[in-house]
Order: sequence, then C-alpha cells, then structure tokens
Amino acid sequence: ELKDNTLIVVFGASGDLAKKKTFPALFGLYRDGYLPEGVHIVGYARTKMDEVEFHKRATQYIKNPNNDETITAKIEEFKKLSTYVSGGYEDDESFQNLEKHLKEIEATYQAPEKHRLFYLALPPSVFIPVATHVKKNNYATSGVNRIIVEKPFGRDFDSSRELLSALKSSWSEDETFRIDHYLGKEMVKNILVLRFANIALGAAWDKNSISNVQITFKEPFGTEGRGGYFDEFGIIRDIMQNHLMQVLSVLTMERPVSFAAEDIRDEKVKVLRAISPVEAKDTLLGQYVGANGKPGYLDDDTVPHNSVCPTFAATTLHINNPRWEGVPFILKAGKGTWPLNEAKVEVRIQFKDVTQGIFKDISRDELVLRIQPSEAVYLKLNAKTPGLATKVLPTEMDLTYKRRFADIKIPEAYESLILDALKGDHSNFVRDDELDVAWKIFTPILHWIEGKNGPRPKPVTYPYGSRGPKELEAFIHKYGYRRTEQG
Ligand code: BG6
Repeated sequence: ELKDNTLIVVFGASGDLAKKKTFPALFGLYRDGYLPEGVHIVGYARTKMDEVEFHKRATQYIKNPNNDETITAKIEEFKKLSTYVSGGYEDDESFQNLEKHLKEIEATYQAPEKHRLFYLALPPSVFIPVATHVKKNNYATSGVNRIIVEKPFGRDFDSSRELLSALKSSWSEDETFRIDHYLGKEMVKNILVLRFANIALGAAWDKNSISNVQITFKEPFGTEGRGGYFDEFGIIRDIMQNHLMQVLSVLTMERPVSFAAEDIRDEKVKVLRAISPVEAKDTLLGQYVGANGKPGYLDDDTVPHNSVCPTFAATTLHINNPRWEGVPFILKAGKGTWPLNEAKVEVRIQFKDVTQGIFKDISRDELVLRIQPSEAVYLKLNAKTPGLATKVLPTEMDLTYKRRFADIKIPEAYESLILDALKGDHSNFVRDDELDVAWKIFTPILHWIEGKNGPRPKPVTYPYGSRGPKELEAFIHKYGYRRTEQG
C-alpha cells in the first residue's frame, strides 16, 4: 500500500536516465493521481544549477504534444513539489547537506512516520559509495526506507556478487528494488496472465507442442553518443543478460503457488537454474558497419578503432527440465537493425508441424507476443479458405491493443515500476539470486568474447539499418525455425 509523506530522492538527476525516464514517469504518476499524499521529489546530482534550470531539465521530456492546458498546469504543480540539491557522491558533507534539505521538507509533515525512497539513476562507479552514504546520513529512522538501483549490475558473475554483497552490508533485500524495466512493460506483465489464466494456452505450453521460441530485440539506432559506455559492455550485457532473460523466465517458469512476489521469483530462479551456460557454438556475433547514410560502429569517435565489441548477438539457450527439454530458445538483440523509430521487441513461439496425413505442406502455428511498438498478441493459424473447395489458408487471430483497448492508456514501464516500489511490491524487480543465475548463464560466453581464454572472436558485419547479419537466417534455421506463409 502507498505510504503518505514519502520523500523521493533521485540521484543522478541531471543524467540521461533521470531526464528521459525517471522524471517523466514520476510526472505521469502525479498527473494520474497515483503518488502518495504529501509526496516530495528531490533531485540530486553533481551539476551546480538553480531550481529553474533543474525544473527545465526534469520536465524536458514530458510529452504534451497538443499543449493541453490541464497538462501544462499539472507540470507547474509538479515543479512545485520538486526541489534540487547539488553535491558530490563520495563525501559525507554532501550527504549531510542533503539531509538538512530533507529534514526541512519533513518538518512540514504532520504524521510521525516519514518515508524515503532513494532512486539511484547512477553509473556503476558511484553506486556503492552513494548507497553507503545514504544509509549512513539519510536513512529515515521513523518510517520505511527503500532503494531503487539500475543496471548495469556488474560485468559478470564475480563482479555482480561483489556489488551484491557491498550493497547488502547497508541495505536489506526487502528494502532493495533492482530495476529491469522490461518487467514493467505491459505485454511482459501479460505473459503470466496469458499462460496461467487460459487453459487452452497452458495446455500447449511445452515441448510436446512447441518447436522453438525466439525472443527478439531490434533497435533503429546505433550507439551514437554512448559508444564509450557501450564498448565496455556490449550487446549481451546491455540487453540480453537482463531484459531478454527476464522475458524468457516469465515465459518458461512453472506456475507459481500464488501471485505473491516471492512465489513468482522462486519459480523464475528455478527455471533459470535449469539453463546451461551459453556456448560459443550456439552464438552468432555481429557488428554494424556504415550504411543508409549512417556511420558504422567503428566510425564512432568514442569507440576504439579496432573494437571487436558485438553490437548484435544471437544465442540459443536450452532448458534442462521435463517441460522444455529439446526446445531451443533463440535470443536475438541488435543495435541498428530496425527502420522505425522505436525498438521492436517480440516473442515468437513456433508450434510443431501437425502430423502429416490429411494436410501436407501447411504452415506451422505461431503465437506472437509483440512487446513493442504497439502491443499485440496474435496467433497465426490455418483455416479453411471460404468457398466450395477445401483449401487451407494461413491466417491470424489478432489482439492488437490499439484496436481492442483503444480507450485505455498503456502505462510506461517506469511508471508501473516506481509505483510498485512505492507500494513495496517486489514482484517485478530482480531478486539477488535471480541475478546470480542470469550471470552464471552468460559469464563463460562473455569471457570468451573478451578474450580471457584465447584470441577475441571477430564479429561478422551487417549494414546499419538491415535485419542483422546475413548469417542469421541459417542460424535460426539450424534450431528448427521454419518461415511460415503470410496469410
Ligand atoms: C536499456 C539499454 O537498458 O534499454 C539501451 O541500455 C536500450 O541500450 C534500452 O536502448 C531499450 O529499452 P526500451 O524500453 O526502449 O526497449
């Protein structure tokens, strides 16, 4: 439940993440009346700026395309409940200064209980110092304290473990909310409902009916402007080990005992533990080169000129349990692989062929969950072409949200997750042991890519704006994917 009189402190308030995601999400919640009574937002960062400048930056990405007056008015109200403090990330004095500011605001609260939510929109280098200083200087003694942390959470199993234990020395698991924003996406949240509220789908959800599954992430842009960060991490850490693995775990976990956070997370961990580490033979790496008027990855000044960092990866995972034995799960993620202006993310579940006999050479059924853009669930299936002859027609049942739920506004992932954190609901956050197993699956391949045990593998190339490396078609074919006919 929501706690009145909550202070939300956003560290890294002048950074990209805070501007593009955190503040717009906080505003969205405020606009729709979801923030608790007496909420106050404090931005904190190193940048010295006055409140006017801070408000300008914090509201810069809030959408109001038609200059709607009520939204403009709400933005003004939102500014009134947001203040700014600048300071360092590593010295006590800065945090004591912040504390003074927080106390001043809290002095206006009537209730004895005062709660604090600390949001760390920060690079990993300052993440532990801030968490530690906050615990020491800014921890509310008469109320609930919570901390939200963002990825990247480590570089591999060992470094993630180090971060985990450093954080645990000051914050309990119950107080910690590790964000993977994919868990806040509407269609990802729908997966549990589709699977466990439908007997028809649930019955076909295993190796007896499913041939292969693809989880795909395509993005229309490269690493422009963040090549420095990206080159250190690569596409597997940026997208696959976290976002796509979260989708995979809700897609494949067993039915939880209940909808409670720990029951759900227990099942996610269990299925992840049944996955063997990714092997080089099941991996295809790519790097984009300049095309369609866009520069290549190596043309970026912030990227070392001979970098072999993959901007595209396809890997196939195998789940060693009775439900999924023998079903390949193909994960694909690529920068610069999609022409539209928003990333395209989808899950494609391809069913097995029907037994030959009455019908020959017909398309396989496919269930597609489009996570973005434009959420949709559609089932490609065969039907009889209407008419006197019996002819099989590949067609589809289509649940496109824009049409079916035209009047319902779909919340942003960050809105949904920040609200959950305010309520103390961990269901859609990453638990420590979940993180551990996800890293276990990818650490060997990451070390191989980074040349820890031999020469670094060279990625194949693909043109910016293409569908990825030309080798991809053969790769997915190898794992049993068959292109279906268009209806
Ligand atoms: C982030 C990655 O976690 O997710 C980015 O660091 C990526 O590289 C982004 O662009 C994609 O998120 P979304 O919500 O746009 O699909």
